[in-house]
Amino acid sequence: MASLTVDSKDPIELPVHAASVGPDVIDVSELTNQGYFTYDPGFVSTASCNSNITYIDGDEGILLHCGYPIEQLAERSDFLELCYLLLNGELPSATEKDDFVGEIRRHSKVDDQLRNFFTGFRRDAHPMAMMCGVVGALAAFYHNSLDITDASHRRDTAHRLIAKMPILAAMSRRHALGLPFIDPRDDLGYAGNFLHMMFAPADGDYEVNPVLARAFDRIFLLHADHEQNASTSTVRLAGSTGANPYACIAAGIAALWGPAHGGANEAVLNMLAEIGTPENIGKFVKRAKDPDDPFRIMGFGHRVYKNYDPRARVMQQTCREVLDELGVENDPTLQMAQQLERIALEDEYFVDRRLYPNVDFYSGIILRAIGIPEDMFTVIFTTGRTPGWIAHWCEMVAVPYKIGRPRQLYTGASRRDFVPIEKR
Ligand code: ACO
Repeated sequence: MASLTVDSKDPIELPVHAASVGPDVIDVSELTNQGYFTYDPGFVSTASCNSNITYIDGDEGILLHCGYPIEQLAERSDFLELCYLLLNGELPSATEKDDFVGEIRRHSKVDDQLRNFFTGFRRDAHPMAMMCGVVGALAAFYHNSLDITDASHRRDTAHRLIAKMPILAAMSRRHALGLPFIDPRDDLGYAGNFLHMMFAPADGDYEVNPVLARAFDRIFLLHADHEQNASTSTVRLAGSTGANPYACIAAGIAALWGPAHGGANEAVLNMLAEIGTPENIGKFVKRAKDPDDPFRIMGFGHRVYKNYDPRARVMQQTCREVLDELGVENDPTLQMAQQLERIALEDEYFVDRRLYPNVDFYSGIILRAIGIPEDMFTVIFTTGRTPGWIAHWCEMVAVPYKIGRPRQLYTGASRRDFVPIEKR
Protein backbone atom coordinates (compact mmCIF):
# COMPACT_ATOMS: atom_id res chain seq x y z
CA MET A 1 0.00 0.00 0.00
CA ALA A 2 1.17 3.56 -0.70
CA SER A 3 -0.09 6.54 1.19
CA LEU A 4 -0.49 10.07 -0.18
CA THR A 5 -1.01 13.12 1.99
CA VAL A 6 -2.17 16.37 0.38
CA ASP A 7 -2.32 19.65 2.36
CA SER A 8 -2.17 17.90 5.75
CA LYS A 9 -5.50 16.14 5.08
CA ASP A 10 -6.02 12.48 5.98
CA PRO A 11 -3.70 10.23 3.95
CA ILE A 12 -5.19 8.59 0.88
CA GLU A 13 -4.34 4.87 0.73
CA LEU A 14 -3.35 3.66 -2.73
CA PRO A 15 -2.86 -0.03 -3.61
CA VAL A 16 0.47 -1.10 -5.14
CA HIS A 17 0.30 -3.78 -7.85
CA ALA A 18 3.27 -6.14 -8.18
CA ALA A 19 4.99 -6.54 -11.55
CA SER A 20 6.42 -9.97 -12.48
CA VAL A 21 9.66 -8.17 -13.44
CA GLY A 22 10.44 -4.46 -13.15
CA PRO A 23 8.85 -1.65 -11.16
CA ASP A 24 5.62 -2.20 -9.22
CA VAL A 25 2.90 0.37 -9.93
CA ILE A 26 0.91 2.59 -7.58
CA ASP A 27 -2.78 2.41 -8.47
CA VAL A 28 -3.95 6.04 -8.47
CA SER A 29 -7.46 5.37 -9.81
CA GLU A 30 -8.96 6.19 -6.38
CA LEU A 31 -7.61 9.76 -6.54
CA THR A 32 -10.42 10.97 -8.81
CA ASN A 33 -12.95 10.10 -6.06
CA GLN A 34 -10.89 12.28 -3.70
CA GLY A 35 -11.01 15.24 -6.11
CA TYR A 36 -7.51 14.95 -7.60
CA PHE A 37 -5.96 13.92 -10.89
CA THR A 38 -2.34 12.95 -11.35
CA TYR A 39 -0.28 15.08 -13.74
CA ASP A 40 2.25 13.32 -15.96
CA PRO A 41 2.84 15.01 -19.33
CA GLY A 42 4.20 12.54 -21.87
CA PHE A 43 3.08 9.69 -19.54
CA VAL A 44 6.66 9.24 -18.37
CA SER A 45 5.59 7.73 -15.01
CA THR A 46 2.23 6.30 -16.00
CA ALA A 47 1.39 2.65 -16.68
CA SER A 48 -1.70 2.78 -18.89
CA CYS A 49 -2.52 -0.92 -18.75
CA ASN A 50 -1.18 -4.26 -17.64
CA SER A 51 0.36 -6.40 -20.34
CA ASN A 52 2.04 -9.81 -20.70
CA ILE A 53 3.70 -9.16 -24.04
CA THR A 54 6.94 -7.18 -23.78
CA TYR A 55 9.24 -6.07 -20.98
CA ILE A 56 11.88 -3.36 -21.29
CA ASP A 57 14.49 -2.32 -18.77
CA GLY A 58 15.80 0.88 -20.27
CA ASP A 59 18.57 1.36 -17.70
CA GLU A 60 20.02 -2.08 -18.29
CA GLY A 61 19.26 -2.17 -22.03
CA ILE A 62 17.02 -5.27 -21.79
CA LEU A 63 14.17 -6.12 -24.15
CA LEU A 64 12.18 -9.33 -23.60
CA HIS A 65 9.24 -10.59 -25.66
CA CYS A 66 7.13 -12.95 -23.50
CA GLY A 67 10.34 -13.44 -21.49
CA TYR A 68 12.69 -14.18 -24.42
CA PRO A 69 15.63 -11.75 -24.91
CA ILE A 70 15.57 -9.94 -28.23
CA GLU A 71 19.19 -10.95 -28.97
CA GLN A 72 18.26 -14.67 -28.77
CA LEU A 73 15.18 -14.15 -30.90
CA ALA A 74 17.19 -12.20 -33.50
CA GLU A 75 19.84 -14.90 -33.67
CA ARG A 76 17.77 -18.08 -33.41
CA SER A 77 14.24 -17.23 -34.46
CA ASP A 78 12.59 -15.32 -37.29
CA PHE A 79 9.95 -12.66 -37.76
CA LEU A 80 6.93 -14.93 -38.27
CA GLU A 81 7.87 -17.04 -35.26
CA LEU A 82 8.03 -13.85 -33.20
CA CYS A 83 4.62 -12.81 -34.57
CA TYR A 84 3.24 -16.12 -33.29
CA LEU A 85 4.90 -15.56 -29.91
CA LEU A 86 3.49 -12.04 -29.54
CA LEU A 87 -0.01 -13.21 -30.44
CA ASN A 88 -0.02 -16.43 -28.41
CA GLY A 89 2.40 -15.83 -25.54
CA GLU A 90 4.40 -19.04 -26.31
CA LEU A 91 6.80 -20.12 -29.05
CA PRO A 92 5.13 -22.44 -31.58
CA SER A 93 5.89 -26.15 -31.94
CA ALA A 94 7.16 -27.14 -35.41
CA THR A 95 3.60 -28.02 -36.52
CA GLU A 96 2.13 -24.86 -35.07
CA LYS A 97 4.76 -22.83 -36.86
CA ASP A 98 4.07 -24.54 -40.20
CA ASP A 99 0.35 -23.94 -39.75
CA PHE A 100 0.93 -20.30 -38.85
CA VAL A 101 3.21 -19.69 -41.83
CA GLY A 102 0.61 -21.38 -44.07
CA GLU A 103 -2.13 -19.21 -42.59
CA ILE A 104 -0.17 -16.01 -43.26
CA ARG A 105 0.50 -17.22 -46.81
CA ARG A 106 -3.23 -17.91 -47.28
CA HIS A 107 -4.02 -14.29 -46.39
CA SER A 108 -1.20 -12.91 -48.56
CA LYS A 109 -3.29 -11.28 -51.24
CA VAL A 110 -5.24 -8.05 -51.52
CA ASP A 111 -8.60 -7.41 -53.04
CA ASP A 112 -8.69 -5.83 -56.53
CA GLN A 113 -10.85 -3.02 -55.19
CA LEU A 114 -8.20 -2.21 -52.62
CA ARG A 115 -5.58 -2.05 -55.36
CA ASN A 116 -7.69 0.67 -56.97
CA PHE A 117 -7.18 2.86 -53.92
CA PHE A 118 -3.56 3.37 -54.89
CA THR A 119 -4.46 4.89 -58.25
CA GLY A 120 -6.28 7.68 -56.37
CA PHE A 121 -2.96 8.90 -54.96
CA ARG A 122 -0.56 11.18 -56.77
CA ARG A 123 2.69 9.43 -57.68
CA ASP A 124 4.61 11.76 -55.36
CA ALA A 125 2.35 11.09 -52.34
CA HIS A 126 4.33 10.13 -49.25
CA PRO A 127 4.03 6.33 -48.90
CA MET A 128 3.09 6.72 -45.21
CA ALA A 129 0.11 8.83 -46.31
CA MET A 130 -0.87 5.97 -48.65
CA MET A 131 -0.42 3.45 -45.84
CA CYS A 132 -2.62 5.44 -43.44
CA GLY A 133 -5.31 5.64 -46.10
CA VAL A 134 -5.16 2.13 -47.51
CA VAL A 135 -4.85 0.30 -44.16
CA GLY A 136 -7.72 2.42 -42.83
CA ALA A 137 -9.65 1.41 -45.95
CA LEU A 138 -9.26 -2.26 -44.98
CA ALA A 139 -11.89 -1.44 -42.34
CA ALA A 140 -14.37 -1.03 -45.17
CA PHE A 141 -13.65 -4.57 -46.36
CA TYR A 142 -13.86 -6.11 -42.89
CA HIS A 143 -16.45 -4.30 -40.85
CA ASN A 144 -19.98 -5.73 -40.89
CA SER A 145 -18.68 -9.29 -40.75
CA LEU A 146 -16.21 -8.56 -37.93
CA ASP A 147 -17.17 -9.28 -34.32
CA ILE A 148 -14.35 -8.08 -32.07
CA THR A 149 -15.76 -10.04 -29.12
CA ASP A 150 -15.10 -13.29 -31.02
CA ALA A 151 -11.54 -14.61 -30.46
CA SER A 152 -11.44 -16.32 -33.87
CA HIS A 153 -12.34 -13.04 -35.60
CA ARG A 154 -9.59 -11.25 -33.68
CA ARG A 155 -7.09 -13.95 -34.69
CA ASP A 156 -8.11 -13.69 -38.37
CA THR A 157 -7.71 -9.91 -38.18
CA ALA A 158 -4.20 -10.29 -36.76
CA HIS A 159 -3.22 -12.80 -39.46
CA ARG A 160 -4.69 -10.69 -42.25
CA LEU A 161 -2.85 -7.58 -41.11
CA ILE A 162 0.51 -9.36 -40.78
CA ALA A 163 0.03 -10.94 -44.22
CA LYS A 164 -1.17 -7.88 -46.09
CA MET A 165 1.07 -5.19 -44.64
CA PRO A 166 4.21 -6.03 -46.71
CA ILE A 167 2.08 -6.30 -49.85
CA LEU A 168 0.57 -2.85 -49.27
CA ALA A 169 4.00 -1.47 -48.36
CA ALA A 170 5.50 -2.72 -51.64
CA MET A 171 2.46 -1.48 -53.59
CA SER A 172 2.93 2.03 -52.21
CA ARG A 173 6.46 2.04 -53.63
CA ARG A 174 5.52 0.58 -57.00
CA HIS A 175 2.70 3.06 -57.36
CA ALA A 176 5.16 5.91 -56.79
CA LEU A 177 7.37 4.50 -59.56
CA GLY A 178 4.45 3.80 -61.89
CA LEU A 179 5.34 0.10 -61.94
CA PRO A 180 2.81 -2.76 -62.03
CA PHE A 181 2.12 -4.47 -58.70
CA ILE A 182 3.85 -7.80 -58.12
CA ASP A 183 2.10 -10.64 -56.28
CA PRO A 184 3.89 -12.60 -53.53
CA ARG A 185 5.35 -16.01 -54.41
CA ASP A 186 4.55 -19.15 -52.44
CA ASP A 187 8.17 -20.35 -52.56
CA LEU A 188 9.58 -17.26 -50.79
CA GLY A 189 9.64 -16.41 -47.11
CA TYR A 190 8.08 -13.29 -45.60
CA ALA A 191 11.09 -10.97 -45.96
CA GLY A 192 12.20 -12.49 -49.29
CA ASN A 193 8.73 -11.90 -50.66
CA PHE A 194 8.85 -8.29 -49.57
CA LEU A 195 12.10 -7.77 -51.52
CA HIS A 196 10.57 -9.57 -54.50
CA MET A 197 7.42 -7.40 -54.43
CA MET A 198 9.51 -4.24 -54.05
CA PHE A 199 12.25 -4.86 -56.59
CA ALA A 200 11.12 -7.42 -59.18
CA PRO A 201 10.85 -6.07 -62.72
CA ALA A 202 7.44 -6.12 -64.42
CA ASP A 203 7.97 -9.72 -65.64
CA GLY A 204 8.53 -10.80 -61.99
CA ASP A 205 11.94 -12.32 -62.73
CA TYR A 206 13.95 -11.48 -59.60
CA GLU A 207 16.44 -13.43 -57.55
CA VAL A 208 16.26 -12.79 -53.82
CA ASN A 209 19.65 -12.33 -52.15
CA PRO A 210 19.51 -14.53 -49.00
CA VAL A 211 21.78 -12.18 -46.99
CA LEU A 212 19.48 -9.24 -47.71
CA ALA A 213 16.37 -11.34 -47.01
CA ARG A 214 17.84 -12.35 -43.66
CA ALA A 215 18.72 -8.70 -42.90
CA PHE A 216 15.16 -7.67 -43.72
CA ASP A 217 13.72 -10.41 -41.55
CA ARG A 218 15.87 -9.02 -38.71
CA ILE A 219 14.71 -5.47 -39.37
CA PHE A 220 11.08 -6.62 -39.14
CA LEU A 221 11.84 -8.75 -36.07
CA LEU A 222 13.69 -5.98 -34.22
CA HIS A 223 10.78 -3.60 -34.74
CA ALA A 224 8.01 -6.10 -33.91
CA ASP A 225 7.01 -4.73 -30.52
CA HIS A 226 8.17 -2.25 -27.92
CA GLU A 227 5.43 -2.24 -25.26
CA GLN A 228 3.43 0.97 -24.75
CA ASN A 229 5.24 3.28 -27.18
CA ALA A 230 3.38 6.19 -28.83
CA SER A 231 1.96 4.23 -31.79
CA THR A 232 0.99 1.15 -29.74
CA SER A 233 -0.67 3.37 -27.14
CA THR A 234 -2.50 5.08 -30.01
CA VAL A 235 -3.76 1.70 -31.27
CA ARG A 236 -4.90 0.82 -27.75
CA LEU A 237 -6.57 4.20 -27.21
CA ALA A 238 -8.42 4.03 -30.53
CA GLY A 239 -9.29 0.39 -29.83
CA SER A 240 -10.62 1.24 -26.36
CA THR A 241 -13.62 2.87 -28.03
CA GLY A 242 -14.50 -0.44 -29.71
CA ALA A 243 -13.43 0.95 -33.11
CA ASN A 244 -12.72 -1.27 -36.11
CA PRO A 245 -9.20 -2.77 -35.62
CA TYR A 246 -8.02 -1.89 -39.14
CA ALA A 247 -8.91 1.75 -38.43
CA CYS A 248 -7.05 1.47 -35.10
CA ILE A 249 -3.94 0.22 -36.89
CA ALA A 250 -4.25 3.14 -39.34
CA ALA A 251 -4.21 5.43 -36.27
CA GLY A 252 -1.04 3.65 -35.10
CA ILE A 253 0.54 4.21 -38.53
CA ALA A 254 -0.20 7.94 -38.23
CA ALA A 255 1.45 8.06 -34.80
CA LEU A 256 4.47 6.13 -36.06
CA TRP A 257 5.04 8.57 -38.92
CA GLY A 258 6.43 11.39 -36.77
CA PRO A 259 10.22 12.05 -36.71
CA ALA A 260 10.38 11.56 -32.92
CA HIS A 261 9.11 7.97 -33.40
CA GLY A 262 9.22 5.85 -36.56
CA GLY A 263 10.24 8.71 -38.82
CA ALA A 264 13.64 8.82 -37.12
CA ASN A 265 15.50 6.56 -39.57
CA GLU A 266 14.40 8.76 -42.46
CA ALA A 267 15.40 11.77 -40.37
CA VAL A 268 18.87 10.21 -39.83
CA LEU A 269 19.51 10.16 -43.57
CA ASN A 270 18.10 13.67 -44.03
CA MET A 271 20.37 14.87 -41.24
CA LEU A 272 23.42 13.21 -42.84
CA ALA A 273 22.53 14.93 -46.12
CA GLU A 274 22.26 18.24 -44.27
CA ILE A 275 25.65 17.71 -42.60
CA GLY A 276 27.01 17.11 -46.10
CA THR A 277 30.70 16.35 -45.47
CA PRO A 278 32.69 14.90 -42.55
CA GLU A 279 34.30 18.29 -41.83
CA ASN A 280 30.87 19.62 -40.81
CA ILE A 281 30.19 16.92 -38.20
CA GLY A 282 31.78 18.94 -35.37
CA LYS A 283 29.61 21.95 -36.21
CA PHE A 284 26.42 19.85 -36.07
CA VAL A 285 27.42 18.10 -32.84
CA LYS A 286 27.95 21.60 -31.37
CA ARG A 287 24.48 22.62 -32.55
CA ALA A 288 22.95 19.50 -30.97
CA LYS A 289 24.48 20.50 -27.64
CA ASP A 290 23.28 24.10 -27.80
CA PRO A 291 20.18 24.43 -25.57
CA ASP A 292 18.96 27.34 -27.74
CA ASP A 293 19.13 25.31 -30.95
CA PRO A 294 16.31 22.78 -31.55
CA PHE A 295 18.62 20.61 -33.71
CA ARG A 296 19.14 17.07 -32.39
CA ILE A 297 21.27 14.21 -33.63
CA MET A 298 18.63 12.00 -35.18
CA GLY A 299 18.92 8.32 -34.29
CA PHE A 300 20.36 9.16 -30.87
CA GLY A 301 18.52 8.96 -27.58
CA HIS A 302 15.43 7.10 -26.50
CA ARG A 303 12.61 7.77 -24.08
CA VAL A 304 13.07 4.41 -22.37
CA TYR A 305 16.65 3.26 -23.09
CA LYS A 306 19.23 5.13 -21.07
CA ASN A 307 21.74 2.49 -22.12
CA TYR A 308 22.68 0.95 -25.47
CA ASP A 309 19.42 -0.15 -27.14
CA PRO A 310 19.82 -3.98 -27.42
CA ARG A 311 18.17 -3.83 -30.83
CA ALA A 312 20.77 -1.31 -31.98
CA ARG A 313 23.55 -3.83 -31.24
CA VAL A 314 21.91 -6.48 -33.43
CA MET A 315 21.17 -3.87 -36.07
CA GLN A 316 24.79 -2.70 -36.04
CA GLN A 317 25.94 -6.28 -36.72
CA THR A 318 23.32 -6.72 -39.46
CA CYS A 319 24.50 -3.42 -40.91
CA ARG A 320 28.04 -4.79 -41.25
CA GLU A 321 26.79 -8.01 -42.88
CA VAL A 322 24.77 -6.06 -45.43
CA LEU A 323 27.55 -3.61 -46.23
CA ASP A 324 30.00 -6.51 -46.69
CA GLU A 325 27.56 -8.37 -48.92
CA LEU A 326 26.93 -5.33 -51.08
CA GLY A 327 30.55 -4.13 -51.02
CA VAL A 328 29.51 -0.57 -50.18
CA GLU A 329 31.60 0.00 -47.02
CA ASN A 330 33.11 3.04 -48.74
CA ASP A 331 29.83 4.86 -49.26
CA PRO A 332 30.58 8.41 -47.98
CA THR A 333 27.21 8.77 -46.19
CA LEU A 334 27.74 5.49 -44.39
CA GLN A 335 31.27 6.47 -43.43
CA MET A 336 29.99 9.78 -42.12
CA ALA A 337 27.34 7.99 -40.03
CA GLN A 338 30.03 5.80 -38.48
CA GLN A 339 32.20 8.85 -37.75
CA LEU A 340 29.26 10.67 -36.16
CA GLU A 341 28.52 7.62 -34.02
CA ARG A 342 32.14 7.49 -32.78
CA ILE A 343 32.24 11.20 -31.94
CA ALA A 344 28.88 11.26 -30.17
CA LEU A 345 29.64 8.13 -28.12
CA GLU A 346 32.74 9.82 -26.70
CA ASP A 347 31.30 13.30 -26.21
CA GLU A 348 30.61 14.29 -22.59
CA TYR A 349 27.22 15.81 -23.48
CA PHE A 350 25.92 12.52 -24.91
CA VAL A 351 27.64 10.36 -22.28
CA ASP A 352 26.22 12.43 -19.38
CA ARG A 353 22.69 12.29 -20.79
CA ARG A 354 23.04 8.62 -21.64
CA LEU A 355 22.24 9.23 -25.29
CA TYR A 356 23.18 6.19 -27.35
CA PRO A 357 22.46 5.32 -30.97
CA ASN A 358 18.99 3.82 -31.24
CA VAL A 359 17.74 1.13 -33.61
CA ASP A 360 16.86 3.74 -36.24
CA PHE A 361 20.40 5.00 -36.55
CA TYR A 362 21.54 1.72 -38.14
CA SER A 363 18.32 0.68 -39.85
CA GLY A 364 18.47 3.83 -41.97
CA ILE A 365 22.00 2.94 -43.10
CA ILE A 366 21.05 -0.66 -43.95
CA LEU A 367 17.93 0.35 -45.84
CA ARG A 368 19.81 2.93 -47.84
CA ALA A 369 22.51 0.39 -48.72
CA ILE A 370 19.85 -2.08 -49.93
CA GLY A 371 18.39 0.63 -52.16
CA ILE A 372 15.23 1.43 -50.21
CA PRO A 373 14.27 5.08 -50.73
CA GLU A 374 14.18 7.18 -47.58
CA ASP A 375 10.47 7.88 -47.64
CA MET A 376 9.88 4.10 -47.45
CA PHE A 377 11.84 3.64 -44.21
CA THR A 378 8.91 4.28 -41.90
CA VAL A 379 6.71 2.07 -44.08
CA ILE A 380 9.11 -0.78 -43.36
CA PHE A 381 8.94 0.00 -39.65
CA THR A 382 5.13 -0.10 -40.02
CA THR A 383 5.33 -3.61 -41.48
CA GLY A 384 7.58 -4.78 -38.66
CA ARG A 385 5.50 -3.16 -35.89
CA THR A 386 2.16 -4.55 -37.10
CA PRO A 387 2.27 -7.78 -35.00
CA GLY A 388 3.01 -5.70 -31.88
CA TRP A 389 0.11 -3.34 -32.52
CA ILE A 390 -2.37 -6.08 -33.20
CA ALA A 391 -1.11 -8.25 -30.31
CA HIS A 392 -1.72 -5.32 -27.94
CA TRP A 393 -5.13 -4.65 -29.44
CA CYS A 394 -6.04 -8.37 -29.04
CA GLU A 395 -4.75 -8.41 -25.46
CA MET A 396 -6.87 -5.38 -24.56
CA VAL A 397 -10.05 -6.47 -26.30
CA ALA A 398 -9.94 -10.04 -24.95
CA VAL A 399 -10.78 -8.87 -21.40
CA PRO A 400 -13.11 -6.16 -20.04
CA TYR A 401 -11.50 -2.78 -20.72
CA LYS A 402 -12.26 0.87 -20.14
CA ILE A 403 -12.36 3.57 -22.78
CA GLY A 404 -9.06 5.52 -22.60
CA ARG A 405 -9.87 9.00 -21.37
CA PRO A 406 -7.05 11.03 -19.77
CA ARG A 407 -7.87 14.11 -17.70
CA GLN A 408 -6.09 17.47 -17.65
CA LEU A 409 -4.76 20.28 -15.53
CA TYR A 410 -7.02 23.11 -16.72
CA THR A 411 -5.20 26.45 -16.98
CA GLY A 412 -7.64 28.41 -19.19
CA ALA A 413 -10.10 31.18 -18.35
CA SER A 414 -12.52 30.69 -15.47
CA ARG A 415 -16.28 31.16 -16.02
CA ARG A 416 -17.22 34.43 -17.76
CA ASP A 417 -20.29 35.74 -19.56
CA PHE A 418 -20.63 35.82 -23.30
CA VAL A 419 -19.96 39.23 -24.90
CA PRO A 420 -22.01 40.11 -28.04
CA ILE A 421 -19.81 40.60 -31.12
CA GLU A 422 -20.48 44.39 -31.39
CA LYS A 423 -19.20 44.89 -27.84
CA ARG A 424 -15.88 43.00 -28.19
N1 ACO B 1 20.50 14.97 -29.75
C1 ACO B 1 20.90 15.93 -28.86
N2 ACO B 1 20.40 16.06 -27.62
C2 ACO B 1 19.45 15.18 -27.25
C3 ACO B 1 18.98 14.18 -28.11
C4 ACO B 1 19.55 14.09 -29.39
N3 ACO B 1 19.14 13.15 -30.24
N4 ACO B 1 18.03 13.46 -27.48
C5 ACO B 1 17.89 14.00 -26.25
N5 ACO B 1 18.76 15.05 -26.12
C6 ACO B 1 18.96 15.85 -24.91
C7 ACO B 1 17.84 16.84 -24.68
O1 ACO B 1 18.11 18.08 -25.32
C8 ACO B 1 17.83 16.95 -23.19
O2 ACO B 1 18.92 17.75 -22.79
P1 ACO B 1 18.79 18.70 -21.47
O3 ACO B 1 18.61 17.73 -20.33
O4 ACO B 1 20.08 19.43 -21.44
O5 ACO B 1 17.59 19.56 -21.69
C9 ACO B 1 18.15 15.52 -22.73
O6 ACO B 1 18.92 14.95 -23.80
C10 ACO B 1 16.91 14.67 -22.47
O7 ACO B 1 16.08 14.75 -23.63
P2 ACO B 1 14.50 14.55 -23.63
O8 ACO B 1 13.93 15.18 -24.85
O9 ACO B 1 13.95 14.95 -22.31
O10 ACO B 1 14.40 12.99 -23.74
P3 ACO B 1 13.11 12.18 -24.15
O11 ACO B 1 13.23 10.88 -23.47
O12 ACO B 1 11.89 12.97 -23.93
O13 ACO B 1 13.28 12.05 -25.74
C11 ACO B 1 13.69 11.20 -27.90
C12 ACO B 1 13.57 10.89 -26.39
C13 ACO B 1 12.41 11.89 -28.41
C14 ACO B 1 13.84 9.88 -28.65
C15 ACO B 1 14.92 12.11 -28.11
O14 ACO B 1 16.09 11.48 -27.62
C16 ACO B 1 15.10 12.51 -29.57
O15 ACO B 1 14.48 13.48 -30.03
N6 ACO B 1 15.97 11.76 -30.34
C17 ACO B 1 16.13 12.03 -31.74
C18 ACO B 1 14.99 11.41 -32.52
C19 ACO B 1 15.07 9.90 -32.58
O16 ACO B 1 16.12 9.31 -32.86
N7 ACO B 1 13.91 9.24 -32.33
C20 ACO B 1 13.80 7.78 -32.40
C21 ACO B 1 13.39 7.19 -31.11
S1 ACO B 1 13.47 5.44 -31.21
C22 ACO B 1 12.03 4.94 -31.93
O17 ACO B 1 11.03 5.59 -32.00
C23 ACO B 1 12.07 3.57 -32.52
